[in-house]
Amino acid sequence: MNFDEIIDRRGTHNVKWDEMQAIYGVSPDDGLAMWVADMDFAAPDCVREAIHNQANHGVMGYFGNDGPYRDAICWWMENRHGWSVDPKSIFTTHGLVNGTALCVDAFTNVGDGVVLFTPVYHAFARVIRAAGRNVVECQLLNNNGRYEYDFDAYDAQMTGSERMVILCSPHNPGGRVWSKAELEAVAAFAKRHNLILVSDEIHHDLIMPGHTHIPMTKIDGIEDRLVMMTATTKTFNIAGSHSGNVIIADPDLRAKFAARMAALGLSPNSFGLFMAMAAYSPEGAAWVDELCIYLDGNRRLFDEGANAIPGVKSMALESTYLAWVDFEGTGMTRDEFTSRVQTAAKIAPNHGPSFGLGGENFLRFNLATPRSRIEDAVGRLKAAFSDLQ
Ligand SMILES: Cc1ncc(COP(=O)(O)O)c(C=O)c1O
Repeated sequence: MNFDEIIDRRGTHNVKWDEMQAIYGVSPDDGLAMWVADMDFAAPDCVREAIHNQANHGVMGYFGNDGPYRDAICWWMENRHGWSVDPKSIFTTHGLVNGTALCVDAFTNVGDGVVLFTPVYHAFARVIRAAGRNVVECQLLNNNGRYEYDFDAYDAQMTGSERMVILCSPHNPGGRVWSKAELEAVAAFAKRHNLILVSDEIHHDLIMPGHTHIPMTKIDGIEDRLVMMTATTKTFNIAGSHSGNVIIADPDLRAKFAARMAALGLSPNSFGLFMAMAAYSPEGAAWVDELCIYLDGNRRLFDEGANAIPGVKSMALESTYLAWVDFEGTGMTRDEFTSRVQTAAKIAPNHGPSFGLGGENFLRFNLATPRSRIEDAVGRLKAAFSDLQ
């Protein structure tokens, strides 16, 4: 594991580096890609071997006997998260944006409301709207650089047309690892308003030292409304495999979900399954442990540099590698601070408003890159805002 190694991704058909010029006007020749949530690190050897084995065999036909694949998922959830999964409760989707879209399709109708706690991962709102449902934005409170819920306000917002709530746990952006009390409050909210609760836990392995992720399944009394979503893809940097798991304990919800998958003719891509069997292993676990320590070092370095710029505040990440940075204190317009980051610093970040209400004054920076690039990014940001020093 050499997370310091710079691997040149330019010209390899990856969205993060190869499309930043077109989207942000930042050249990959001298700019830094800090947007899309994938990492600039090679996947662990065990995962790469699984792909090599396929290529070496040469025949890449349909996958059969998915028992060992389901066992690998159960092993990981039990060993890493203390969560006992029934193998028959696992569905494999084409990633979790697809998983979200399938949940919206299976459990809600056109015109229904789907609740999001914003700012939150932008693709949720995109698929909800594309499916003709309404996004109900319940804004998180920013309590001195830490997101918290405001359930009295959310209760007052509900109209009765809401059918589902999607939770991002841990939270992207903002990096919160929700406490047991917070998860219980989300569960109580879902019960009060009779909502299906979809818990997207794709970032559950990327936890900073000192914090512990609690799977939503640990909260009592919601099994009949709970849908869990997990994936290997963020954890092991294999998002291109477009593979994810929707895990549903309740038999009625499971039947509805299975019916939609059948109607859409969905079955998984074998490469995602081979990679998951290899990744969900002791070797994969050791790699993730090292990765989290490295990411923690990156976020400390980044936060120290960013927070030294007057008026700039990076949220202290408890999980994920996505720094969520508040520029409100600079007193600049969004256009001005964005232009300084993109044009002066030549960094391509995600823009806050795409994450919904509350994201207006933020940019999101992806820190999953070799440390020398984080040092570079901090230097560029300090220079771009040097008149504020
Ligand atoms: C919360 C969350 N869910 C889902 C995804 C993407 O899932 P997939 O690539 O499996 O569609 C992301 C990617 O950043 C994410 O942050």
